[in-house]
Amino acid sequence: MLATVPTFALEGVDARAVAVEVDVRRGLPAFTVVGLPDATVREARERVRAGLLNSGLEFPLQRLTVNLAPAWVRKAGASFDLAIAVGLLAASGQVPAEALAGCAVSGELSLGGELRPVSGALAIALGCTAAGLRRLVVAPGSACEAALVDGLEVCAVPTLGHLVELLHGRWRPDPPRPRATGGGGGPPAPDLADVRGQDDARRALEIAAAGGHSLLMVGPPGAGKTMLARRLPGILPPPTVAEALDITRVQSVAGSGDGRLARTRPFRAPHHTVSASGLVGGGARPRPGEITLAHRGVLFLDELPEFARAALEALRQPLESGRVEIVRGQVALSFPARALLVAAANPCACGAGGERCECGPVARERYRDRLSGPLIDRIDLVCQVGALSATALAARSPAGERSAAVRARVVAARERQAARLGGCGPTCNGELGAAATRALADGAGRASAQLARALDAGLLTGRGHDRVLRVARTVADLAGSATIEAEHVAEALAYRATGGWSRGAAR
Ligand SMILES: Nc1ncnc2c1ncn2[C@@H]1O[C@H](COP(=O)(O)OP(=O)(O)OP(=O)(O)O)[C@@H](O)[C@H]1O
Ligand SMILES: [Mg+2]
Ligand SMILES: [Zn+2]
Repeated sequence: MLATVPTFALEGVDARAVAVEVDVRRGLPAFTVVGLPDATVREARERVRAGLLNSGLEFPLQRLTVNLAPAWVRKAGASFDLAIAVGLLAASGQVPAEALAGCAVSGELSLGGELRPVSGALAIALGCTAAGLRRLVVAPGSACEAALVDGLEVCAVPTLGHLVELLHGRWRPDPPRPRATGGGGGPPAPDLADVRGQDDARRALEIAAAGGHSLLMVGPPGAGKTMLARRLPGILPPPTVAEALDITRVQSVAGSGDGRLARTRPFRAPHHTVSASGLVGGGARPRPGEITLAHRGVLFLDELPEFARAALEALRQPLESGRVEIVRGQVALSFPARALLVAAANPCACGAGGERCECGPVARERYRDRLSGPLIDRIDLVCQVGALSATALAARSPAGERSAAVRARVVAARERQAARLGGCGPTCNGELGAAATRALADGAGRASAQLARALDAGLLTGRGHDRVLRVARTVADLAGSATIEAEHVAEALAYRATGGWSRGAAR
C-alpha cells in the first residue's frame, strides 16, 4: 500500500512543500529512507519505530520504503518524523487515508510517541495556505504560532495515540488560541528626553526613522552616540500586521520567538568581534545572521571601525538589496534583511577629532581606511555628534523632546510615503529602487538640477546622488511638502558632505 503525506522543509525563512511517500509491501523486513535525507532524518526510523510501538500501534514488519519528494532538495532535522509515522499508519491501514486529504503534518517524535514542537512553525503554516492545504497537525508547543495564520485549521496534538483518534474522527483538539499580543517584552525602550543637546544628531535620527535611511554618527567618546542609537526603536512606527508576521517568522526560524506575534521591532547590537557569517548568516546548515534577526527593525553597529573588514564588506550586498543570498553546495538560500543600519564611530583613533586630535596623519589615515569607500557610500546620513559642554550636560531643563512627540512626526511622514507608494513593494523612501528614484528626480525640477551639479563636480557618486534624492524626499515628507524643494535637497546633501568619511567616499 502507498500513502502520501504533505509536510514542509525550511529553506531560509520559507517553507518548501515536501511530500512524504510511504510504501509498505511484503518482503524481508527493511526500513529505507531516500530523497536526500541527512543523518537526523535517517535517524527518524528509530524514533518512528519506538514511537509507534510505545503508543500501542503496530509497526509493520514488512519492506518499508520512504521517499521524500522532491528528491533533490536536501532534508534536514527531525520535523519529518511525524509525516513518516503518519504515512506508515496510513499505508498499513491503521488510519483512514481519506482523513489525511488536505492535511499537512510537522513534528518531531519522542520514543514514547509524544509530538515535539518544530522551529519555523509560522513559516510552515504560511506554506500550508500557499499550498492550498486547510489543516495542519503540530505539537501543542507549535500550535499557537501556527494559529497566527488566518484560514488554517491548526490541530494541537500531544501524542501519536491522539492523532490516530483524531483521524478516526473520535477525538477533537481544542482550537489553539493565539496569544495575540506580546513578543519582545522586557523593559520599555529608553526615551529621547534623556538626551541633552545634540540637536543635529536628533534631527538625523528622526530623518533616518522617517524614511528608513542608514545613519552613521561620528563623534568623540561620551558625546551620547550609543545613547542616541538605543533610542531609535522608540521613535519608529509600530510594526504593521504584515511586518509583525515577518518579524515573528524570523524569530521562529532562529528559535528565539515565544510563539506570540511580535509587537515591537527587533533591535540588534552585535559586538564588533562578530564574524562575517555571524553578521549576515551562513554556516554548514545556514543560519540567519544579525542583519536578518534585525529584519524590519534596527541593526546597531557600535564602534563601526572596530568590526572586521570581511564582516563589514559582507554587509554591502544585503544593504543594497534587503536580502542575504547564501549558496552552500547545491543549495541557494535567501534570508530577508531589511534592517535599518545605525552605526557609531569615533572620528579618529584617539577619539578627540578636530583640533584636539593627537593622532599623526598616518594613524588618522589608517583609521579612516578601516571603512571602505563602497561601504560608506551606502550610508545615507552621516552626522557629527559634538562633545557636550558642561553646562549643556548639567542643565536640568529644558529636557530634550520626548520620543512620543518625535514618533508622531515619523508616523505622519511614513503615512505620506505609504499613500504615495501604494500597497505593495517598498514601504518607505529608503527602500525605493532605481526606477522609482529616477521618477523622484523628474518631479524635483530645480532641486534636481542642484544635485546634478554636485554629481558633475565629483562631490557625489551615482549611488550617492540617488541616496541624497531619497533622503530629500523624506525631508520633504517630514515637512509635509508634496514636492522636493531646494532646501530639502540642501539638508540631505549636508548629511552627506559633512565628516571626513563621507567626503572620502565622495571623491
Ligand atoms: N547628550 C547627552 N545627554 C545626556 N547624557 C549624556 C549625553 N552624552 C553622554 N551622556 C552620558 O554619558 C554616557 C555615555 O554616553 P554614550 O555611551 O552614548 O557615549 P558615546 O558617544 O557612545 O561614547 P563612545 O564613543 O565612547 O562609545 C551616557 O550614558 C550618559 O550618561
Ligand atoms: Mg558608544
Ligand atoms: Zn585623533
